[in-house]
Amino acid sequence: MLHGKRILLIVSGGIAAYKSLELVRRLRERGAAVRCVLTRGGSQFVTPLSLAALSEDKVYTELFSLTDEAEMGHIQLSRDADLLIVAPATADILAKMAHGQADDLASTVLLATDKDVMVAPAMNVRMWEHAATQANLETLRQRGVHVVGPEEGDMACGEYGLGRLSEPDDIADAVSNFFQSSAPLSGRRALVTSGPTHEPIDPVRYIANRSSGRQGHAIAVALASRGAATTLISGPTSLPDPPGVTVVRVESARDMLAACEAALPADVAVCAAAVADWRVAEMASEKLKKNGAGPPALEMAENPDILASLAAASNTRPGLVIGFAAETEQVVEHASAKRERKGCDWILANDVSPETGTFGGADNTIHLVSADGVEDWPRMTKADVANRLADRIAKTLETNE
Ligand code: CTP
Repeated sequence: MLHGKRILLIVSGGIAAYKSLELVRRLRERGAAVRCVLTRGGSQFVTPLSLAALSEDKVYTELFSLTDEAEMGHIQLSRDADLLIVAPATADILAKMAHGQADDLASTVLLATDKDVMVAPAMNVRMWEHAATQANLETLRQRGVHVVGPEEGDMACGEYGLGRLSEPDDIADAVSNFFQSSAPLSGRRALVTSGPTHEPIDPVRYIANRSSGRQGHAIAVALASRGAATTLISGPTSLPDPPGVTVVRVESARDMLAACEAALPADVAVCAAAVADWRVAEMASEKLKKNGAGPPALEMAENPDILASLAAASNTRPGLVIGFAAETEQVVEHASAKRERKGCDWILANDVSPETGTFGGADNTIHLVSADGVEDWPRMTKADVANRLADRIAKTLETNE
């Protein structure tokens, strides 16, 4: 799960450089954005064009390129990344890193960075076993550089031994593990409801609402990208399943409640779904027909309140239960009353009065109501709301420990 992560991949020379193309794909499949730096040696084995096509970004090669320095200096390349990976890492680039040499773009970026660095060495077995390489590796390890591989096997040079570049999937796993273990919600379980519910009238008709699910889905992504094992229980939406999240698709409020209960225990539950308050008491088993007696009278029954049920669960209550409230006036007062009524810990009160443009818009204006009072958030995008909420959840769970 690398959603939202930015990786700077440095491809140095060596026959294994062809695998870097596959690595770009594997990292992007997991949600990462990948930008590449190609050394002069690396460009003997893969072309900048191939890397650019797969990364869908410009490939950086020259230290003293006027356009690169004007558009993006080598410092900026490192600044924009969450992690630097050198794959393949030749004996030469490892030596440069260990000794602080900076004579091309790749080595300059590596010397200028304050970000975590991962190397995946690849070289001839004798070069790998050489005391100089091993000493360089030891220096780098002590500085906190993460080392993946190499693997044992047949080498392009006809020899057999340690020195093969790890498989792209294994390198991508190491990257995922790196972010997972340094993630603030690592080891936590999160439950998020999202979207509308559909309440059936008969086999072909239902009652629904206009919820898009965008806010709930963004929250699931934000929690998962901080390391939480996240289950997203979603009513029908047109959104794709977010990567790295366990998605359970449901239709009705009662299905949503059952799926939530099945997903417990959880450290945090965020109820962002627009659950229908009412359902048709008895769904017709056959399609309702016009029989000349006028429109049918639909008897309604109250749906379970999922947020209140989760907050009231005796043994399985998540440590933090969070709901939303859509209000048009007296936003904080109504939200505070809702928090008390539903027994949840926080309510994100959503000002949906027409002048805010929140309904159907991309932005949200949130007031976080908790036992400690009210926090007014500035107007921001739904993705920013999700990230701010996830950071707040991580901090609170850590403090409550
Ligand atoms: N909720 C729920 N199950 C329901 C109804 C609502 O889990 N059957 C949750 C929603 O996911 C949301 C919060 O409760 O977190 C919203 O509560 P609700 O009472 O529906 O408030 P509003 O939508 O703001 O509507 P109203 O002000 O009319 O009560």
